[in-house]
Amino acid sequence: ARKVHHPKAEEQWHTKTAIAFDIDGVLLRGGHVLPEGKRALRMLNGENPKKKKVPHVFITNGGGVTEDKRAADLSKKFGVNILPSQIVQSHTPMKSLVDKYKDQLVLVVGGEGLACREVAKEYGFTKVAVPDDIAHWNSTVWPFRKLHPDYIKEKDSAETEAIAYDFMTEPIAAVLVFHDSRDWGFDMQIIIDVLTSRGGYIGTAQEGDIKQAVPLYFSNPDVIWSTDFPIPRYGQGALRIATGALFKHTTGKDMEYTLFGKPYSTTYAWAETTLENYAKAQGVTLPPREERKVYAIGDNPASDIKGALAQDRWEPILVKTGIAKENDPEYPAPYVMNHVEDAIKFILDKEL
Ligand code: G3P
Ligand code: MG
Repeated sequence: ARKVHHPKAEEQWHTKTAIAFDIDGVLLRGGHVLPEGKRALRMLNGENPKKKKVPHVFITNGGGVTEDKRAADLSKKFGVNILPSQIVQSHTPMKSLVDKYKDQLVLVVGGEGLACREVAKEYGFTKVAVPDDIAHWNSTVWPFRKLHPDYIKEKDSAETEAIAYDFMTEPIAAVLVFHDSRDWGFDMQIIIDVLTSRGGYIGTAQEGDIKQAVPLYFSNPDVIWSTDFPIPRYGQGALRIATGALFKHTTGKDMEYTLFGKPYSTTYAWAETTLENYAKAQGVTLPPREERKVYAIGDNPASDIKGALAQDRWEPILVKTGIAKENDPEYPAPYVMNHVEDAIKFILDKEL
């Protein structure tokens, strides 16, 4: 009988190089798949001259769904198996806040319907309010707000875990902006209400010298991002600027906040660990960090390129399918390519 050779994981993988993909403007635009992205991912899954797989992760300043859902959606769109353990979304590193706010009420802002509450609960936050909880509690808080249809469905459902925070007796301990706001006026009003309240109690207001009542966190600093529209669109960073301007107008002070997401090092530290855990789950041991290189492919100079330039052993590649049509003078990428397929071909040629 013929002897069957079962290759060890090490023989199937090239482990000295890893790839970190940005999503919007690199693999997707306005939710649509870029065909070059499809081919690029297939190449990393072994469809290359050396028939080797290359470890890769996805680092996006987008979010609004759990990593499980994001992985399932990407797998379907790109026709390759993408695991939740390969995904770092804008709010993924906010898991590090769970211990701090474990038993306290946090306000999670942004995203569609109740999706971000679900994400925060999955991360381990136990008491998670969304702005619609406040509008439901007292509709005059923002007279123009119509509760999201998903919210109405949930609150009217028999199985609902009662969403009945009494904001008069239960203070909000922190505001966490998880994703792009769907209703800027309403969300800004609520955020500033909490920040200028007495101790996080909605409906109370400080007088005189106002001190920011609770910490504020943003998951994504991007002022602009790339969609199907011909020119970039405002993102979560723009909401932050607008909210900060209103806060300053109201209090005379600068709004204080902590940022997560690219280009901040918390996100890259998270990405390195994600890469190692993901490799381990595939049965592959990566060489020590000093011996491997990570190529970061992105479209946003201020996040993807700036962020990767600041990391040891990370090399950014700017692609022209998103925000930037040429290299950026402030955050110049060492390589500029037309699209992600060219970037992957270049990397494989050089490294495999
Ligand atoms: O809201 C998403 C956006 O700001 C950027 O997403 O994948 O390009 O980091 P991405
Ligand atoms: Mg992008």
